[in-house]
Amino acid sequence: MVMNKEVLTKYKKASEISKKCKEFGKKLAVPGANYLEISEKIESKIRSMGADLAFPVNMSVNSVAAHYCAVENDKNILNEGDLLKLDIGVQIEGYIVDSAISIPIKTKNHDNLILAAKEALNNAIKMVKPGIYTSDIGEIIESTINKHGFKSIRNLSGHGIEQYNVHAGYNIPNYKSGGKFKLEKGMVIAIEPFATNGTGRVTEGKSSGIYELVEKRQVRMYRDVLNHIISTYRTLPFSEREVSKNFGRTKTKLALDSFVRAGILHDHKILNEKPGSYVAQFEYTIIVDDKPIILG
Ligand code: CO
Repeated sequence: MVMNKEVLTKYKKASEISKKCKEFGKKLAVPGANYLEISEKIESKIRSMGADLAFPVNMSVNSVAAHYCAVENDKNILNEGDLLKLDIGVQIEGYIVDSAISIPIKTKNHDNLILAAKEALNNAIKMVKPGIYTSDIGEIIESTINKHGFKSIRNLSGHGIEQYNVHAGYNIPNYKSGGKFKLEKGMVIAIEPFATNGTGRVTEGKSSGIYELVEKRQVRMYRDVLNHIISTYRTLPFSEREVSKNFGRTKTKLALDSFVRAGILHDHKILNEKPGSYVAQFEYTIIVDDKPIILG
């Protein structure tokens, strides 16, 4: 047995919830729909189904590759012709399923790009087995995307997953990195190819409103906010939008800024491709075994 049976049951339940929430997201993603409403509906659904968020819903559109998180009073709406990446993190007792889909908004213009990312993920999954180099998975991802005439985004990657830890210490590259890291039985990994007609690199933009605890420390100011964050989210990423519901917008902003300055929190940035380009992404969480278990 690759994994404790109770743990596997939790992963499978999180996986079912993730699948349902992605389907729900597809229905909600129509022209005119507001990012904030979609995000909050999906977040509520995750919780109503008996799980919790592994990170806030990410809705990255067109040239935004990753980490756009709806803010309080977000007025952005989806438009016909958009390409949405919906990235959802579901966890049960810290056992995380991280999964993403690309949704075209009433358009066929992005079908080839979407196919490139989807096929890259499928080909990558076929390679997953104990003992394989993650670099070899990256190689098949990039070559599949290139075959469709697009670029793989090289400075984004999949990642290892551990309990209450979305990004365990190793990556699953989206190109042949040449690294010598091998997968082992029982590892939980997220594979997430990004295909683009842009440059193949993202740059950091503005703050996303997604934060994550990096170092637990005593604070004098805003101790109540920090205690709330630690008890609610532990080491998982969370949104400023949700913390604001408890402490109000002004106090939350001041508290989070001071925690970032003190090195207590990490402030995730929005990751952008070249303006005017498009990015497609698909992601599954996988338990490495002789026959891998695909989640999400
Ligand atoms: Co991921």
